[in-house]
Amino acid sequence: MAGIPHDHYEPKTGFEKWLDRRLPVVSIIYDTLMIPTPKNLNWMWIWGIVLAFCLALQIVTGIVLVMHYTPHVDMAFASVEHIMRNVNGGYMLRYLHANGASLFFFAVYLHIFRGLYYGSYKAPREVTWIIGMLIYLAMMATAFMGYVLPWGQMSFWGATVITGLFGAIPGIGESIQTWLLGGPAVGNPTLNRFFSLHYLLPFIIAALVIVHIWAFHTTGNNNPTGIEVRRTSKEEAQKDTLPFWPYFVIKDLFALAVILVVFFAVVGFMPNYMGHPDNYIEANPLVTPAHIVPEWYFLPFYAILRAFTSDVWIVMVVEWLSFGIIDAKFFGVLAMFGAILVMALVPWLDTSRVRSGKYRPQFKWWFWLLALDFMILMWTGGLAPDDLNGYVPAISLAATAYWFGYFLVILPLLGVIEKPLPMPETIEEDFNEHYGAKAHPAE
Ligand code: HEM
Repeated sequence: MAGIPHDHYEPKTGFEKWLDRRLPVVSIIYDTLMIPTPKNLNWMWIWGIVLAFCLALQIVTGIVLVMHYTPHVDMAFASVEHIMRNVNGGYMLRYLHANGASLFFFAVYLHIFRGLYYGSYKAPREVTWIIGMLIYLAMMATAFMGYVLPWGQMSFWGATVITGLFGAIPGIGESIQTWLLGGPAVGNPTLNRFFSLHYLLPFIIAALVIVHIWAFHTTGNNNPTGIEVRRTSKEEAQKDTLPFWPYFVIKDLFALAVILVVFFAVVGFMPNYMGHPDNYIEANPLVTPAHIVPEWYFLPFYAILRAFTSDVWIVMVVEWLSFGIIDAKFFGVLAMFGAILVMALVPWLDTSRVRSGKYRPQFKWWFWLLALDFMILMWTGGLAPDDLNGYVPAISLAATAYWFGYFLVILPLLGVIEKPLPMPETIEEDFNEHYGAKAHPAE
């Protein structure tokens, strides 16, 4: 598919021409900023900028935190308390970093669900989607290892539970677990390597973000109609698009400002709301907390992990068929990673010719059910198994079944049976339908 035709940078002065022949950096910046962007993008297209802001915030606050943090089991907890009490503005830095992680995941979930609704994963944007999924996995690894660093009770026991999952892999599991931990249990070598990787991964994410942006700049952005920008001529393309600068930069910055008002209110007035009080108790390998829970953004997948107990029939069947190699614990681990894998494969599982959910009457219902399903998983993931009169595993199991059913059964079938709604011919038509009168009041 040819790129969207548009004006390119033309070096004018002698110096510009000289530089452009040697390093076309101005040209790249110009083309990136002036990229033609579908003019009908709605407010769900702001999350990318929010995510970029979060990444920068986490890197900047993280680097300053590291100046005062000590990655040693005897000193980590005290060094974090030192940051909170003695370092100038240290409590603010830490709260920005801890709550920044929450904003990062909040934004990524909305960004992902936006993509799922408007079919942004569909051809030709599969690579953007897959890179996005790699970013998401790297974000999970980074957040998990970061949570271990303050060396509180949840840090220690969370790390013990999650690394223990690798131990469930038949045969080689225990060796992998020991290799990950740097010893037989979570200890100083674990803290050291998690610290090292927690520092490294955000830079890998930054590199992936550049490739992500490169990919969707190659195909052009999707938009709420899912209809492509006309590419037959520059004039046609201009009817469907506006340059990214200044139109979308201003819109994105406005949205970011509104979100940051809420963010700073949380950081300033309720900074520990999303944290767990047990993490203000120093790690103690001899005392297990009553209820080990991960951070809120891991809860849906934690619920899937715990849904498969040994009394679930499918677990029994698989255990029997695999001669006991795949037990309930390993099944849970496979389901958890499988839940992310099916989402990554959605470009090939969705068989519909129509890209945007806006024109798919049946899809809409299933999609909103998926969003609700995700919330239910997040809720049950945070409960103890015997809460709700012991119904937590059953609810998690039903919600897990829907998650897999949506990607593996509903999406492939819907594409065949669904009759799409009438669609506008062009982005321009859609834009004028929504904003025509307001955009051209004189007409
Ligand atoms: C650090 C994390 C990420 C950053 C900074 C980021 C950044 C962006 C930006 C700036 C856009 C342009 C439009 C918009 O704002 O929506 C975008 C589009 C997109 N992102 Fe991400 N993204 C991230 C993670 C993800 C993840 C985890 C996925 C899911 C797999 C994803 C999937 C997509 C897709 C499919 C598009 C193209 C959609 C379109 O233009 O309609 N991204 N991303």
